[in-house]
Amino acid sequence: MSNSIKLPQKLMLLGSGELGKEFVIAAQRLGNYVIAVDRYANAPAMQVADCSEVISMLNADDLEAVVTKHQPNLIIPEIEAIRTEKLLEFEQRGITVIPTAAATNYTMNRDRIRELAHKELGIRTAKYSYAVSLEELIAISDEIGFPNVVKPVMSSSGKGQSVVQNKSDVEQAWNYAIANSRGDSQKVIVEEFIDFEIEITLLTIKQWHAPTIFCSPIGHRQERGDYQESWQPAGIAADKILQSQAIAKKVTDALGGAGIFGVEFFITKDEVIFSELSPRPHDTGMVTLISQNLNEFELHLRAVLGLPIPHIEQLGASASAVILASEKLDSVAFLGVAEALSEKDIDIKLFGKPTAHPYRRMGVALAKAANVQQAREKATTAANKVKIIST
Ligand SMILES: Nc1ncnc2c1ncn2[C@@H]1O[C@H](COP(=O)(O)OP(=O)(O)OP(=O)(O)O)[C@@H](O)[C@H]1O
Ligand SMILES: [Mg+2]
Repeated sequence: MSNSIKLPQKLMLLGSGELGKEFVIAAQRLGNYVIAVDRYANAPAMQVADCSEVISMLNADDLEAVVTKHQPNLIIPEIEAIRTEKLLEFEQRGITVIPTAAATNYTMNRDRIRELAHKELGIRTAKYSYAVSLEELIAISDEIGFPNVVKPVMSSSGKGQSVVQNKSDVEQAWNYAIANSRGDSQKVIVEEFIDFEIEITLLTIKQWHAPTIFCSPIGHRQERGDYQESWQPAGIAADKILQSQAIAKKVTDALGGAGIFGVEFFITKDEVIFSELSPRPHDTGMVTLISQNLNEFELHLRAVLGLPIPHIEQLGASASAVILASEKLDSVAFLGVAEALSEKDIDIKLFGKPTAHPYRRMGVALAKAANVQQAREKATTAANKVKIIST
């Protein structure tokens, strides 16, 4: 990426969910041309892009066809489930893949990124091991101890993940992981359960021509492996922030390229433990839509295009709370948005997903307040006011 970039650029977004939608909005505000790609029509980011394509992003021929047709300057993955080997090929042909094709491949496999962090870079992670059969999982579960966490090596958003309390639950965890594994992978990771005080996302911005910079850490709460609420600042001690920054810098330097990364950590009383990272905006980072002068999507765009980021300002105690569907709906409408917005310093984003199913994330409530506790309460109250119905 040259130091003085010419705008507009032609960006191809692979994955068109809510994070992609905000990224496209940021890109459009600088007049860029965006092709939004996903496996279903009218996905959130498609609604604000210049044009869209519906393909299977795990299919190399489908990817080849859309790249040949549109000839983008940059390919920006928004999800993990992409035929990443094909991205390597595009990169070799001179298309910039964000952050790099290799990084997208590393991070879609839990084992690859874990080996990089722990074995190659010597970073503290939860104790872990892998299994490719139930028998092996039973054997290594004893070594790791209970409770532990079993996850498919290929999965995201908590899919196929379970906390295993004792030996009699191992078989169920194996079956659940394999049934929810992406592609035909039959490998699971089992991790020591970390009894953390708080878990955080450290948004880390790696730039082409400037030093790596960080946002104020974001605290979050997960259920079923999926984020429910997040807040900023996270309220952790300055030395732990510095430790997490040093680790994030080390891992993102090893991955290379440019863009924002959501680096996840467990914070215990005494330790900062690296968990995993997204080489793209992070769902918990949606809080930055209200909490910063530049949100994570604008930061990603600037980093990707090599535009300067002179200053990131945290605007005070802020929180986000997700608006989840509770049932299957073939069409979607919302009630209660007016009530949710009636208070000061509250915002609501609805993603425009055409259908709903239980736990599908349909929107997010954002709030600012005098302190984080109040911001969390405000965001959750606002989210709960929004009701999802069919049209
Ligand atoms: N070893 C562990 N100890 C304690 N809790 C854990 C552990 N591993 C995962 N969790 C919990 O499960 C959540 C999801 O785990 P992880 O981030 O590994 O999964 P994921 O499927 O990649 O999720 P996402 O794609 O949403 O980031 C974590 O944020 C944390 O709350
Ligand atoms: Mg995670």
